[in-house]
Amino acid sequence: MVPWKAAWSTALYGPHGFYRGDTGPAGHFTTSSHGPLGAVLAEALGVLADREGATHVVDVGCGRGELLVHLHSARPDLRLTGVDVVERPSGLPGAISWLSAPGGATLPDALVDLEDALVVAHEWLDVVPCTIAEVVGPGRLALVLVDPVTGVETPAAEGPADEDLAWCARHWPVEDRAVGSRVEVGLARDRAWADLASRVRRGTMLAVDYGHTRDARPAGGTLTAYRAGRIVDAVPDGSCDLTAHVAVDSLEHDELTTQRDALRSLGIDTRPPAPDLASSDPSAYLAGLVRSSAAAALTEEHGLGRFRWVYRRIDAA
Ligand SMILES: C[S@@+](CC[C@H](N)C(=O)[O-])C[C@H]1O[C@@H](n2cnc3c(N)ncnc32)[C@H](O)[C@@H]1O
Repeated sequence: MVPWKAAWSTALYGPHGFYRGDTGPAGHFTTSSHGPLGAVLAEALGVLADREGATHVVDVGCGRGELLVHLHSARPDLRLTGVDVVERPSGLPGAISWLSAPGGATLPDALVDLEDALVVAHEWLDVVPCTIAEVVGPGRLALVLVDPVTGVETPAAEGPADEDLAWCARHWPVEDRAVGSRVEVGLARDRAWADLASRVRRGTMLAVDYGHTRDARPAGGTLTAYRAGRIVDAVPDGSCDLTAHVAVDSLEHDELTTQRDALRSLGIDTRPPAPDLASSDPSAYLAGLVRSSAAAALTEEHGLGRFRWVYRRIDAA
């Protein structure tokens, strides 16, 4: 039995880790970086880059570069860099630079001195492994241990490290929580985000992720596993993705908003094309329908529109 954080790291980023597999995340689940949604998201990021004065977009945890490929076709004037745990995927347009990362909270050494950059982390922090703890008595937490082969869990005799407990006291207090409720301690994500910030001299960081804030922390935990498009049991054996929502308000930030509001502020229009276009230019009409449907999906109030957008602006000059 090992603490979840260690088992999770090996399962995703060990030598045979899930994310080192050939297909990449897109082989197992769909995100807003893929297909027509990715095209609209890329369009929005282009607008954001202009608004923030960025000429270089860095996508940390970029999968196989899906969002960057969309961005490259929409905005060939922007410098683009992808960062993920594999070697540069074959077939990626030559204009897109690539850095390979160790994975999880650890970023590549070569990712430094970013200037005039928009640094995007789209669904990265939710796969940065974190400590998982369980309430075992009034205000008392125990580490949750897991068997990496079966996924069977048991509370440890000991509690989380002091630094994790300090994070909980500040961001996820448990005094009023029922026995058995869980905490996904955000310290590892806060530190990974801070490490990313330390590589930026001047620019804007944007994390887009599933998240929660102190007023509504989930009681049962959010750890979820995906394999081949389906939710499966959370077994840290390298055969499935393992993800847990991000305590977004504990990340150092300048602005915290929802995807719905963020995309609206960037001018993403969800209105369908004018009906007359169907007869005057059927293919433009169809393309417009695909685009407006994607924009509607990205901003849907009870769906993807609830994703959190976390901004941090840096000028270390
Ligand atoms: C949930 S997937 C999201 C992929 C893509 N951003 C998207 O939205 O489709 C998370 C990705 O983060 C990558 N990742 C995890 N830790 C990383 C790190 N330290 N540096 C770069 N990429 C990392 C994983 O390999 C995986 O491809």
